[in-house]
Amino acid sequence: MRLLRILTAGESHGPGLTGIIEGMPAGLALDAAYIDEQLARRQWGHGRGARMKIEKDRVVIRGGVRRGRTLGSPIALHIENRDWKNWREVMRVEAGGDETLKAVHIPRPGHADYPGAMKYGHRDLRDVLERASARETAARVALGSVARRFLEEFGIHVASRVVSIGGEVDDTDADAFPVPELNACADSSPVRALGAKAARRMIAAIDAARRDGDTLGGEFEVRVAGLPAGLGSYVHWDRRIEGDLARAFMSLNAIKGVEVGMGFRAARLRGSAVHDELFWDPARGGVVRRSNRSGGIDGGVSTGEPLVVRAAMKPIATILRPLASVDLKKKKEARAHIERSDTCAVPAAAVIGESLAALELADAFLIKFGGDSIPEVRSHYESERRA
Ligand SMILES: Cc1cc2nc3c(=O)[nH]c(=O)nc-3n(C[C@H](O)[C@H](O)[C@H](O)COP(=O)(O)O)c2cc1C
Repeated sequence: MRLLRILTAGESHGPGLTGIIEGMPAGLALDAAYIDEQLARRQWGHGRGARMKIEKDRVVIRGGVRRGRTLGSPIALHIENRDWKNWREVMRVEAGGDETLKAVHIPRPGHADYPGAMKYGHRDLRDVLERASARETAARVALGSVARRFLEEFGIHVASRVVSIGGEVDDTDADAFPVPELNACADSSPVRALGAKAARRMIAAIDAARRDGDTLGGEFEVRVAGLPAGLGSYVHWDRRIEGDLARAFMSLNAIKGVEVGMGFRAARLRGSAVHDELFWDPARGGVVRRSNRSGGIDGGVSTGEPLVVRAAMKPIATILRPLASVDLKKKKEARAHIERSDTCAVPAAAVIGESLAALELADAFLIKFGGDSIPEVRSHYESERRA
């Protein structure tokens, strides 16, 4: 992101999470209820742990909005951690207190515990895991909701669905669902899958993993419709829009791969089976495509077709039947620490992915059509469309 800037702060069991977004134009209608709706979507899904039953996230807008409209100033958002009251002593901000309370000395393989402790010199791994936790993504979803609200003003819709969990794949063709209707369907499934049979298989896989004290990952897809052509650029490496999107998705905890359009599958096919041909159809505005295998981006530039980005999430690192690790205090082998945890969080990751995409696309939109107020951005956008 270049024009929009975001920052988040806060620990998983600390007093709360704070997010700031800077660069949003003035005059955008925004209220807390709109953001809360997205926060609630992030919190559920089959496979989440007990924590998400405690937290009912609600945002408090602490700056940048007056009488339901953005002012053009930085927008500050705060989400209280309801569980904080049970963690006051463990997470106390003031010096002193009992340092042994819920101290962690056995890192979980696959989590940030060990590399984080080596990097910052923390002896109690809780100093790492409290911030490395994906609880931080509540703040990013809140900030992403501001970007989503902005995109809606210009008829751009962001949605997602889960493609696989634990190797159980939903091969439903998402092209059959208009993007503005995709979330209504995905949100009605406990695993956010479009296919009912696949959803049942995914739920069974999660239940089996939970029974075995194990965890699962999977893949999700974010789709965006209504994007104008011409966002991003081919002229320099750091202006390619898929580069920004890939970075945003890879910045999400546990994401290990990102694909645009056919992605990795394209690498195994011939060019004639991959590239989207162009046709002349004056009734549909001139040059048209009849396929969207590129996922809405060619040469680092949006084509005007729906954007399709997929991400692969590794299984949750906290495993109830813990993996081999080392007790860093006792300096001997031990089973990894167990923290209250999810079995599978792919449905939530999909919702978070929507917010990450919204932030990048709002930024790209502002780079092309930018202005200080919504009417100014609108006039730039409409004059470009007329041209
Ligand atoms: C929505 C979401 C929820 C997560 N919940 C947990 C969890 O409950 N327990 C856990 O150990 N990891 C959880 N993770 C994954 C960890 O945050 C992740 O494994 C950790 O950051 C290390 O992954 P990394 O190598 O990608 O940084 C979650 C990730 C996401 C996106």
